[in-house]
Amino acid sequence: MTPGGVLARFGAMSKAAFQRLPGFRDFVPEDLALRSHIFDAWRRVSRRYGFREYDGPPLEPLELYVEKSGEEIVGQLYAFTDRGGREVALRPEMTPSLARILGERSRGLAKPIRWFSIPQLFRYERQQKGRLREHFQWNVDIVGEDDVAADAEVLAVAIDGLRALGLTAADVRARVSDRRLLSAVLGALGVPAEGLPATYAVVDKLEREPRERSLERLQNEAGLDAGRAREVLALFETPGLEGVRERFGERDEVGAELARLDTYQGHLEAMGLGDFMTFDLTIVRGLAYYTGIVFELFDRSGEFRAICGGGRYDRLLELVGGEPLPAVGFGMGDVVLGELLRARDLLPDAAPSVDRFIVPIGPEQRALALRIGHAERERGRSVLYALREQGVGKQFKAAASAGAREVVVLGPEEVARGVAVVRDMASGEEREVSLEELT
Ligand code: HAM
Repeated sequence: MTPGGVLARFGAMSKAAFQRLPGFRDFVPEDLALRSHIFDAWRRVSRRYGFREYDGPPLEPLELYVEKSGEEIVGQLYAFTDRGGREVALRPEMTPSLARILGERSRGLAKPIRWFSIPQLFRYERQQKGRLREHFQWNVDIVGEDDVAADAEVLAVAIDGLRALGLTAADVRARVSDRRLLSAVLGALGVPAEGLPATYAVVDKLEREPRERSLERLQNEAGLDAGRAREVLALFETPGLEGVRERFGERDEVGAELARLDTYQGHLEAMGLGDFMTFDLTIVRGLAYYTGIVFELFDRSGEFRAICGGGRYDRLLELVGGEPLPAVGFGMGDVVLGELLRARDLLPDAAPSVDRFIVPIGPEQRALALRIGHAERERGRSVLYALREQGVGKQFKAAASAGAREVVVLGPEEVARGVAVVRDMASGEEREVSLEELT
């Protein structure tokens, strides 16, 4: 098509053709200010704990997610065949990419590996509060350490990420469980090993599905009889650990898992973060690869979807073809977190601001304005001036809307004396500063 033809075609298209895709966001500066505020806190906390930042490509082989991530995510993939005939997908999560990257490189790295990343991820989800089709997700993972101290450490990072944004134990809590404990308890209730994945999938949805539907799925998908299915559901009606301890604690396999969770809790209490944590047997996580302690972070009011989810996945690296290394980590999304910060009045100041706005009174002072502006910028100050000849009033108005802290006025008389007038915009105070100092 000729360039004219293209223009004619676009011209004929309705305005609707250029609307943003549903579930995607624009980030105008006010929105980007919040995103940066969140990213800054995430990076600060990651570094405090000695994690190093990495990234990977947004497009990966489709195969990386099939079976590794589990049915739910695979059903939400943005997948297509590329021009070279490869089956590819936009990354819906970072963990498989991390496993792939470490598959190639982990042998040369000192263990445990402490890496973090803030990728943009894509899932074709039904749009709802807290769920979009793209989001940014803070991923923090420790690879090569199977001690429960690593599990406690990553939860501490997640909690501190929220604390760094002003949230407290009154705002958020971590709900923690362990797939090993759950499988031991379900085993004691007579759920066969091959029925576990389907049972986990039902448990993961307990809060979002009617009880009848869960009962039905336990029978049809996990192969339980009606009585056993009811018994399994009853287990989750009191999701704390005490019931489990009383009923199943005597069994060796359950006792060992409870002891590990006690150590885990002890670590978090020693760090002063015990108040953030509750045990909750209903937390299993929707992803297929978790093998041990799992957790999700929620707002205490119960108003929002999960802010963060993670856990131990000791077999994924091997599954992806790498060194068999234990791993534990989490992903924290920016969408629910942004909503929660807004609800708790914890948004950053997004108003524009610059250090100085330079106001030449007339065209004779323009070259001097440019010289001062550039010298100031070289010193690291943010500086603005009008890009065309304007009256002083208009320039002051522009300075105010740019959020200038100071205005530097270059009048012919002052310039002749080798000075400029610097006005503090908040107090209105004025002082003379030598041009030598400004340039
Ligand atoms: P996930 O639970 O699928 O875990 O996602 C983690 C968090 O990302 C969620 O709690 C939520 O805040 C956010 N999130 C997920 N999907 C969306 C969406 N469609 N819109 C907005 N936010 C969303 C994982 O992805 C694991 N790979 C995390 C992990 C890392 N596990 C170990 N290491």
